[in-house]
Amino acid sequence: MLGLAVLWLLSAPRPLSLADIPAHTPDLANGEKLYNASGCRSCHLPGPDLKDVNAELPAGGKPLKTPVGTFYPPNLTPDPETGLGNWTDLEFVNAVQRGISPEGAHYIPAFPFTSYAAMRTEDVLDIRAYLATLAPVSSPERAADVPLAFIVRRGIGLWKWIGLDTAKWQPDPAQSETWNRGSYLVNGPGHCAECHTPRNIAMARNNSQAFAGGPHPEGDGRVPSLRGLIERGRYKDAKDIASALQFGEMLGYDKVSSGGMGQVQKNISKLPEADILAIGEYLASLK
Ligand code: HEC
Ligand code: HEC
Repeated sequence: MLGLAVLWLLSAPRPLSLADIPAHTPDLANGEKLYNASGCRSCHLPGPDLKDVNAELPAGGKPLKTPVGTFYPPNLTPDPETGLGNWTDLEFVNAVQRGISPEGAHYIPAFPFTSYAAMRTEDVLDIRAYLATLAPVSSPERAADVPLAFIVRRGIGLWKWIGLDTAKWQPDPAQSETWNRGSYLVNGPGHCAECHTPRNIAMARNNSQAFAGGPHPEGDGRVPSLRGLIERGRYKDAKDIASALQFGEMLGYDKVSSGGMGQVQKNISKLPEADILAIGEYLASLK
């Protein structure tokens, strides 16, 4: 009994409090940029039952298959009943950076809050402000098809002790400003490591093998390594990597279109060129 009580306490959510939310005037243009860099749209697309809804809106419901079951990522539009209309900033930041719902349940890390935790909270608030400008869509929550969902969710609380690093991204003063911008976009919002870094037996990212590639976390096939892209002759230079991310298949680049990478490439292509070049510079430095 005591063992169970300890597990229960250890698996409890540890949310942020109001004191952790900085005073901030939202910057909508930055919010849109970070929304694209974070790929929120890719997962939260409208489901097949929402036929008349603009397919670009993050109205939620498109199935997302994962090894633990199928999720229907929820509605991120500002609809007050079924979307984020009535959410507070604190609830939003706790969802995106701690994986905790307003009711205090754990989200499953198919939602990459494990990378978003490294983001500047101001950037998360800007995404929230940008989402509030989108057209509201009524798209009711669809329960996940996950066996034993209650236990799995509670178990995520234990997993978070090893799988959720809440340290914010830190710049490396020895590197250039553009390298640091690329590092931030890749390791925070871009959540590139969620697919490109292999996992250990506890399903946490194995950071000693950062970006070395591995089995696809959503099940099918493998994700290539992002180390030594220049040395291995995959790309000529940092600019070439950036151009692959900017134009993808359109300019004949292969290996950037399947296994979820096509959506990533589409989102990255919407960023200002300086940001795409910064990502290229950072990736080219991974040996
Ligand atoms: C790789 C897919 C994926 C990406 C990318 C993603 N999400 Fe999600 N998101 C999910 C899934 C899956 C859930 C539901 C998790 C669960 O039920 O445990 C979710 C849940 C949420 C929730 C909780 C909503 C509710 O009604 O409970 C919010 C808020 C959210 N995501 C916001 C975002 C934002 C903002 C971004 C971009 C910064 C984002 N998501 C990117 C998959 C994703
Ligand atoms: C959903 C999982 C996923 C995420 C997230 C993801 N990737 Fe990928 N990535 C892949 C897969 C799968 C491939 C191989 C695609 C193919 O062969 O068509 C790939 C391929 C690539 C390649 C080409 C590698 C080569 O050898 O030419 C680059 C570069 C790349 N990704 C960069 C990124 C960056 C930068 C991010 C973050 C902004 C990112 N990826 C996020 C899954 C992902």
